[in-house]
Amino acid sequence: MAPATPAAPDPRTETAADTVLVVDFGAQYAQLIARRVREARVYSEIVPSTMPVAEMLAKGPKAVILSGGPSSVYEPGAPTLDAALFEAGVPVFGMCYGFQLMATALGGTVDNTGAREYGRTELSVSRPSSTLFEGTPAEQSVWMSHGDACSAAPEGFTVTASTDVVPVAAFENDEKRLYGVQYHPEVLHTTHGQQILEHFLYRGAGLAPTWTTTNVVDEQVALIRAQVGSSRAICGLSGGVDSAVAAALVQKAIGSQLTCVYVDHGLMRKGETEQVEKDFVAATGVQLKVVDASERFLSALAGVSDPEQKRKIIGREFIRVFEQAQAEIVAEAPGDHPVEFLVQGTLYPDVVESGGGTGTANIKSHHNVGGLPEDLEFQLVEPLRKLFKDEVRMVGQELGLPEEIVQRQPFPGPGLGIRIVGEVTRDRLDLLREADAIAREELTAAGLDREIWQCPVVLLADVRSVGVQGDGRTYGHPVVLRPVSSEDAMTADWSRLPYETLARISTRITNEVRDVNRVVLDVTSKPPGTIEWE
Ligand code: XMP
Repeated sequence: MAPATPAAPDPRTETAADTVLVVDFGAQYAQLIARRVREARVYSEIVPSTMPVAEMLAKGPKAVILSGGPSSVYEPGAPTLDAALFEAGVPVFGMCYGFQLMATALGGTVDNTGAREYGRTELSVSRPSSTLFEGTPAEQSVWMSHGDACSAAPEGFTVTASTDVVPVAAFENDEKRLYGVQYHPEVLHTTHGQQILEHFLYRGAGLAPTWTTTNVVDEQVALIRAQVGSSRAICGLSGGVDSAVAAALVQKAIGSQLTCVYVDHGLMRKGETEQVEKDFVAATGVQLKVVDASERFLSALAGVSDPEQKRKIIGREFIRVFEQAQAEIVAEAPGDHPVEFLVQGTLYPDVVESGGGTGTANIKSHHNVGGLPEDLEFQLVEPLRKLFKDEVRMVGQELGLPEEIVQRQPFPGPGLGIRIVGEVTRDRLDLLREADAIAREELTAAGLDREIWQCPVVLLADVRSVGVQGDGRTYGHPVVLRPVSSEDAMTADWSRLPYETLARISTRITNEVRDVNRVVLDVTSKPPGTIEWE
């Protein structure tokens, strides 16, 4: 295999065959649309609406979807789209704002009539056998959010649906393969949204549902081999899903050219280090370097209660230990195969949120692995940078990773260090580890793992209160249960767990964990609360 050269392909910027481009007009609809397209087994990527149409077309998309957005087409400075897109022979589907842009660009009429519609609306389908609507009911619920309304479709288009307020709620032009709907098919409140999207993809654009995680694995393995060549790579494992799946994928591609580093900072949950040491290695055969650095972290954290300071200390120590491990790996096998690559479990939402970047090759920031070095000169290998979280889990399954790793709920890089309100000590960590293990065991036994996003267990180490146990008075700490449901951790609601499960967790924790005499439940949504307590 040839050594890596600057001319090696950058897998981070390659566009796959059979790609649908989702043009982002703002307000986070584009990510959801991209996910729905992939759920239809068609690969999709998001591009900003400021990208010139020629550049979009140069990517060779098989179809283009125009997302909704918060603007009115009549607002000064509202995003626009070059009408050349509609002449390129590429099938286009406009949604909400994208629909209105299409309508105006092609000579239809969009009025700012004050005819607003927000929320659930009844849609009447007037052409039940149309490309978009075939096989769906004549009346269906759709999710609207618009102030302007299309009153006349462009020439050559057939109006296929309307609402009480909007005379043109959907239009279609099979000859030009251009389609649009005034509503949001991507949200779950739109009862037949996925079906209509699939009709566009399969019937309108003639695409086949062929994109699978097997394709992803094969494609990424080839790209990683081409990128890394005969060089070597290292990967920081955090115990989380993303770094585990990224490492397994790179391991499949380059085998012993990869070394994983797992820093045990002593802030892990019960069984976590063993899981990485045994289960992960058994499933992947990866070369693993485990560094027991708990002493170092705990002495650096001694006497510190301020959460920000704790995070800074944990980040700083992590960098030092990782650097040291990296130097050792290089020293153990010096020679002509330098360690040039760092594997990162960056996901697609991170990429989109940081500007959709085609990024530079050198390391800049690290959201995922909990504080890797800022100034190490590595080229990045980011095999998950085009995937959403649920797709990462599917890739993990495909690679044969154990269920306990693939289905893990999110856990913060700084670990239990930010779930102790007060100073972090070994003794307190031991208490919290026990309480956390009980809560996890009971939630799993009750079959609730998939229903909740995560359930931090928090030790209020600076609080003591009086209790009674056996014949004696106790003066112990409270533990907080923080079960939440969420789609992306940006917002969350507290999970309505069954009382029986809560009761079992409470009884077991107060019986089995020394120094804990109360269990309390956090019933705050996010906002105003955060998910973690620190
Ligand atoms: P908050 O507490 O901000 O948490 O509502 C949102 C999500 O982020 C996780 N979290 C972290 N993950 N490193 C991580 O890898 C961190 O420093 C960190 N802090 C919070 C948290 O568990 C939740 O899923």
